[in-house]
This record gives sequence, C-alpha cells and structure tokens, in this order.
Amino acid sequence: MYLREIKSGGSLIGSVKVPGDKSISHRSLLFGSIAEGETTIEGLLPAEDPISTANCLKAMGVKIQLTTDNKIVKIQGVGLDGLKEPNDVLNCGNSGTTMRLLLGLLVGKQDRHFVLTGDESLNHRPMKRVGHPLKMMGAKVSGRCNGDFAPLSVVGAQLHGAVIGTPVASAQIKSAILLAALTAQGSTTVIEPANSRDHTERMLKAFGANVQISGELGRHITLRPGHKLSGTQIVVPGDISSASFWLIAGSLIPGSDITIENIGLNPTRTGILDVLKQMEANIELFNKREVAGEPLGDIRVVPSKQLKPFYIDTEIIPRLVDEVPILAVAACFCNGTSQITGASELRIKETDRLSVMTRQLTKMGAIIQENPDGLTIQGGKGLTGATLDSETDHRVAMSLAIASILAKGDSTMARSNAASVSYPEFWSDLERLRK
Ligand code: S3P
Repeated sequence: MYLREIKSGGSLIGSVKVPGDKSISHRSLLFGSIAEGETTIEGLLPAEDPISTANCLKAMGVKIQLTTDNKIVKIQGVGLDGLKEPNDVLNCGNSGTTMRLLLGLLVGKQDRHFVLTGDESLNHRPMKRVGHPLKMMGAKVSGRCNGDFAPLSVVGAQLHGAVIGTPVASAQIKSAILLAALTAQGSTTVIEPANSRDHTERMLKAFGANVQISGELGRHITLRPGHKLSGTQIVVPGDISSASFWLIAGSLIPGSDITIENIGLNPTRTGILDVLKQMEANIELFNKREVAGEPLGDIRVVPSKQLKPFYIDTEIIPRLVDEVPILAVAACFCNGTSQITGASELRIKETDRLSVMTRQLTKMGAIIQENPDGLTIQGGKGLTGATLDSETDHRVAMSLAIASILAKGDSTMARSNAASVSYPEFWSDLERLRK
C-alpha cells in the first residue's frame, strides 16, 4: 500500500529542478520514432508514463537508447510507415496520453493489427472521444462498451483527410487526429472550442510537418500530408504541472523560499500563474528564455501574508487542467470562498479528481462542496492531519502531500507511490527542501 507518514509543519527552502514535461516527453518519443534518421532528446521525463510510451514503440521495432551518461535518449526513427506489427498487446499502463496518441498514430498503418490495453484506471477511461473522430477519417477501431473502453483493437487502414470540430478542448484528441492526418489522403483540419496545449503543433513543425494555424483565436489547425518528418534535437523543459506543487507550497508554507528552475512557460500551460496572480501570491519570474521552440524560465516563490480566494471557469481550465487538485488544496487556505467551475473533464482523468479531492480533503476538515462541474471551497479555516489515500492518482498524491505539511497534526497517505507516474523524485525533492 506504500503507506507514508507525513509530518506537519516546517518550511520548504532551496532550489528544485522539476523533471521534464510529461506531454513534451511523450511527443518527442512518438514523433522521433516516425521520423527519418536520429532524434536526440535531452531532459526526457524518466517516469512511468513516458516509459509506457517508449516500451510500446520498442515493441513495434523502434530503437530507443540512453547514452552511457544517462543524459540523452537517442531514437533511430523508422519513418512514417516503418512501425512493425507488434507480437503482443501494447500496454499503455496508466497513461491516457500514450493510448490516445498511439491510437492516432496507428490507425493509418495499413496491413497491421494492434491491440492497446492499460491498467485498471486506463481501461475505464473514455476512448471514443478519440476513436469517433478517427473513424470520420476512415479508421477501424473497436473496443469494449461499443468502442469506448480498452482493450482497443486497431486495424490499420487508408485514411482520408477531414474537417473535425472537437466538442472539448483536449490536446490528446487534437494530437491523435493530427498524427492520423500525417498519412491520410488530403489535408485535415481540427477546430477546437478553446485552445488546448499546443506542443504537438510546435513539435510537428520542428520535425518538418506542414502544420498551419488559422481561424479566430488560432483554433483551426490544418495538417497537409506529404512531408516526411526528419529526426531532430529536442530539449524538454521542466513540467509546469510538477512545478505547481512547489508554487503552491512556497506561497503557503510559512518561512518557505523556493526557487524552481527550468519551468516550461508555454502560454497554453500557464493558467496556474494567472490564478496565483489572482490570489496575490509572491511569485518572481526571471531568466526567461526559449529552448528548442518552447519558452521557459525560473520562478522564486515566498509566502504571501494572506492569499485571496479565486474563481476559475471554462475559459481557463484547458490551461491548468492538471493543476486543479493542488488549487483545491490552496483554496482551503485562501481567505474566503473559491470557486472552480467548467471542470467536468476532471472526472475522467486518472481518477475522478473532483470526487477524490472532495473525499480526501473532507477527511482533513475542509469545507468543500463537490458540484457537477467543479468545487466550491470555503477557505481560511485550515486543515487537520488525517488518514489519506491517493486513490492511485499521481496528482492527488502530490497535492495531499502539500496539504499534509500545511495541516495541523500529522497525516498518513496510502498509495503514495502513485507520484512516480509523473514525478519519480517528488518525495526525495520534498525531503531535501524540508527544513
Ligand atoms: C495531455 C493533455 C491533457 C492533460 C494530460 C496530458 C497531453 O488531457 O490533462 O495530463 O499530453 O496531451 P486532455 O487532452 O484530456 O485535456
């Protein structure tokens, strides 16, 4: 059960370099594999989710190796049509990004059959949201519950381009469609209701694909096939989603002073910084730069006297979708009522994060109300230590860790090892920063 005791109190002081961005890590492995020639990746996230992606690609004949100093991952790309039919099912583990992006990548691989499966959580997450648009391009995908749940079966087919409006702003759906579009006949346009993270567009361009962004607010993304992808050099910035735990901890834990180095600052991901501003947190952004097509910088955070409550809705959710659990913890310490709305997507993440956070924070004495599409949290009364459970969700585990330090009285957390899905060094970084 990986039961962990977490002592309350103390400060967090020092520097931390968060691990590589999970979304960018997946994409660099996937795109490098279907490019021609060698791709090198510096700063790849060595966590369970990207390892699932790498293992699936290796099972289809791609050579992915670490250099002897363990610093760079090298991929020998097999080209757009070079992936082999695997001998066994492809296991995506806990990773929705692996399964959804692979679906897009594999549906156009003619004369080959693939079966994708995952763990208990992943095999209960909706896949029709990807299967359905891919079928509009001629894909042959089937699965349990009328195609919605894995294990999923893919029979590679000749695809045709299409214009596809997605009902939700999801980078996984958008990316799956764009990957399928690479080998379709004719161009494909994805139209999103709001801008989801744009790492796929940026990276596909860097590999040489013909991607154009147009339409009102840049929500039409068109891919014209016929251009091969060429291996390239990728530098993965630190994951702002992993940094968010330190941003909130540093804003709230008395006496803290944390510098977070090398954080990816792609504007489709920085919603958390906007909310911290709303809360009047003490954040200093410096050393801004651009590396391999992605903006990044360093952030120093120290506590504020009193954080203001915040309100977030549909508009900003895609830019902070993975940060809602830690924002729920922050809300417990803001002076007043915070409201999170338009967040029903949280219900279909690794767990139903609205329910899980309500259940766990209620044990700590939070005044929290679960709504169909969000949370209402009355802050200012603090939390008390409790017997907690990550319920297998990595972001819940890390959010509750920060809540436990802030609480009065010690806590225990069952299944605390879930953190290694996206941040294997989380617990050791936390110990190192604690003073
Ligand atoms: C991701 C997109 C988001 C995010 C997930 C990673 C990606 O999911 O929650 O952690 O890498 O494309 P949705 O596409 O479902 O919004």
